Amino acid sequence: MFDIGFWMPESVNSLAQGTDSLFMFILWVSVISLVVVCGAMVFLSIRYRASSSASRDKPPKDHFGLEVTWTLIPTVILMVIFYWGTRDYVRMSVPQAEAMEVRVLGQKWFWTFDYPKQGIRLQATEEINDKNTREGRPVGLVVPVDTPVRLVGSSADVLHSVYIPSFRMKKDVIPNRYTVTGFRATKEGVYDLFCTEYCGTKHSGMITKVTVLSQAEFASFVEAAQSKADSPIDGATLFAGSGCAGCHSVSPDAPPGGIGPSLYNVYGRKERLTTGDTVIVDENYLRESIENPIAKVVEGYGPVMPSYAGRLTEEELTALIVYLKGLGGING
Ligand code: CUA
Repeated sequence: MFDIGFWMPESVNSLAQGTDSLFMFILWVSVISLVVVCGAMVFLSIRYRASSSASRDKPPKDHFGLEVTWTLIPTVILMVIFYWGTRDYVRMSVPQAEAMEVRVLGQKWFWTFDYPKQGIRLQATEEINDKNTREGRPVGLVVPVDTPVRLVGSSADVLHSVYIPSFRMKKDVIPNRYTVTGFRATKEGVYDLFCTEYCGTKHSGMITKVTVLSQAEFASFVEAAQSKADSPIDGATLFAGSGCAGCHSVSPDAPPGGIGPSLYNVYGRKERLTTGDTVIVDENYLRESIENPIAKVVEGYGPVMPSYAGRLTEEELTALIVYLKGLGGING
């Protein structure tokens, strides 16, 4: 219990080396304070219990030395903790000049990792994570070992937070501004990455991995991802990678309900809207529902879908709609 391994997985971030010792320092200060305070409490309550004959003649009076002591000691301890914590926080937050940049986008309810210099984009929805795991490919955020990485985070909708316990790293990602943090992984492996700000229905599904590769493996991973980025857009991949599948089923035997309507056989379907109107699902309705989802909400569902306006290119939108039309509809 007095070993960091009891509380946390092994630390593999060289920029957060001080975190564990600070944690143990605070733990010990707390344990010692607890023992001293409770010890005094127990001792005094026994000594001055009702039936004891201890002298109660001297009423308590001011003791200047004592006052100063119990003010100074906690102040000094708190200043040490403050200095120590701030120094390590700043070390992680100030980007290193030579760091590799990765942009993290949090949105309901998945992560996107953009590598501006390498020109690649990795997505981490539950579907893509599962697929990559099955096929033995790196999952989630992929980084090289022993390389400083700067994470620049933002959010497309609400507050999310990137939490990587093995890196001792947690950083909120916030709409309309960037937050910066950094790490340098010291060991190859696969580590957990959680969202640690409650962000709605599928907050608990916003988990993925950090995969730390050797530098050579990372280089070939980037090369493979770059060549894939040039191939034509596939609507099914886009659907899985844009978070759609988190709320919309595309399978004929999905149970009714869910966060969003099933999209199996959607094209040409007559839908009743929350306004009481009906609409026939065509290309324009699909497009509107992607770009401005709350304009015409199907009866029985809430206006919860985030807008994808500006987040998909024209080609991507078209590819997505072509894919949706093929889902068992009149073309299927
Ligand atoms: Cu995103 Cu919780």
